[in-house]
Amino acid sequence: MATRNAGGRPRLTVIGTGYLGATHAVCMASLGFEVLGVDVDRDKLDRLENGDVPFFEPGLAEQLRQAVDSGRLQFTDDFVRAADFGDVHFICVGTPQTADSPAADLRFVDAAFSRLAENITRPALIVGKSTVPIGTAERLTELVQDLSPAGEAVDVAWNPEFLREGHAVQDTLHPDRLVFGVCSESAAEKLREVFAPMLDEGTPVIITDLKTAELVKVAANAFLATKISYINAMAEVCEATGADVNLLATALSYDSRIGGRFLKPGLGFGGGCLPKDIRAFAHRAEELGVGQAVSFLREVDAINHRRRTRTVDLVRELAGGALAGKRIAVLGAAFKPNSDDIRDAPALDVAAMLHDADAIVSVYDPAAMDNAKRAYPQLRYADTLLEAIKDADVVAMLTEWDEFRDADPEKLGQHVALRRIVDGRHALDADAYRSTGWEYRALGRPADSHTVALISDKQDELIPG
Ligand code: UDX
Repeated sequence: MATRNAGGRPRLTVIGTGYLGATHAVCMASLGFEVLGVDVDRDKLDRLENGDVPFFEPGLAEQLRQAVDSGRLQFTDDFVRAADFGDVHFICVGTPQTADSPAADLRFVDAAFSRLAENITRPALIVGKSTVPIGTAERLTELVQDLSPAGEAVDVAWNPEFLREGHAVQDTLHPDRLVFGVCSESAAEKLREVFAPMLDEGTPVIITDLKTAELVKVAANAFLATKISYINAMAEVCEATGADVNLLATALSYDSRIGGRFLKPGLGFGGGCLPKDIRAFAHRAEELGVGQAVSFLREVDAINHRRRTRTVDLVRELAGGALAGKRIAVLGAAFKPNSDDIRDAPALDVAAMLHDADAIVSVYDPAAMDNAKRAYPQLRYADTLLEAIKDADVVAMLTEWDEFRDADPEKLGQHVALRRIVDGRHALDADAYRSTGWEYRALGRPADSHTVALISDKQDELIPG
């Protein structure tokens, strides 16, 4: 029976090798742990074993190859082997939104805990990292202790993960805080051992009960979503009054109590976390009888969705009042730059609405084309930026990739039918576009707003996308 590795450090398994799990497995192996990545998807495991990351994440492929070559990172679909191998098991499977309600779908979490527990025959710690409704960890503790031949020698802890796509390696290796939700001192001790490299760097750790740890994650994501929707609500007020939301956000950001991060106005949030997490949180709060306490999250969601329809309105306005038959170039498909993730992607939602209004839509994204084509086969796709904008009546820049931010407006202008652009992310230099003959529009900004260099520099520093 396996116990600890030669260096005396606990052996780790990571169940679920998607975005979160693959990154966690690779990073822990890079810190010197022996790690076994576990998944039910054999194709994914084959790719990972060959050093091939199945999604776009800057810097991860190099780290994966090093970890695999070092022999410290292996992969399997065998839960008996995993149960035997691990002293500490991290559960990193997804908790998507259910198809017919706002609730989180816990089937994958339940299956991972159950299959592992059934095979664990010695003391072990199972650590949930997936985002789950409050109360899940307590239920799972009972479940695993019932199922495992080791009974109460199997402990459960919760360690929420706050990594951002596009910064996954950095966020995992150098988190701004660690949260250990535990019900025993021995579980806290084991987690301190596993996260020693981060703790040695001075990373703050907050030790909590299981429920607080579950709540920290959804509360953090709810706060971030609220902050984005707050500035986008202000954009609506700006649109009705002629005020400029970009200048407003800049002025607010200098107040250190408010801060500029996640205060970037525009098309709003998407992705695999914020949208589904606020819905699942509101749903769970209602089940717990405290729905009113977070009823504002429904408004946060509604504001976010109005940004999408309002962007379509702005494109229509620039197209002369009607979309039918107009050629619209959509720049961006991923939910944010440096990602190929299209889950709840605002850009593709807008592209689909334009298509439904009979516009001729041409989409280009530097990384998310394959995913976009699979999910939105009805749209047209271009292989390059210039091909996408060829003969366009309106260009809509909806995901702020560097390729779009850095593009030369004069050069772009030579390829379009009409120089008209909607900057869905407040990421382009309005003056540079206007001075080369473009009609430039952005949500929440007057039609004649100007770029102020100092302010936009400061915004980039304070308000990273
Ligand atoms: C988020 C959380 O940041 C992370 O802590 C959690 O673990 C998972 O969910 P992620 O989904 O990778 O991470 O993306 P994030 O960088 O948070 O951006 C979310 C969305 O908000 C993107 O669509 C982005 O374009 C949008 N956004 C972000 C804004 O519209 N304005 C902002 O100021 C910031």
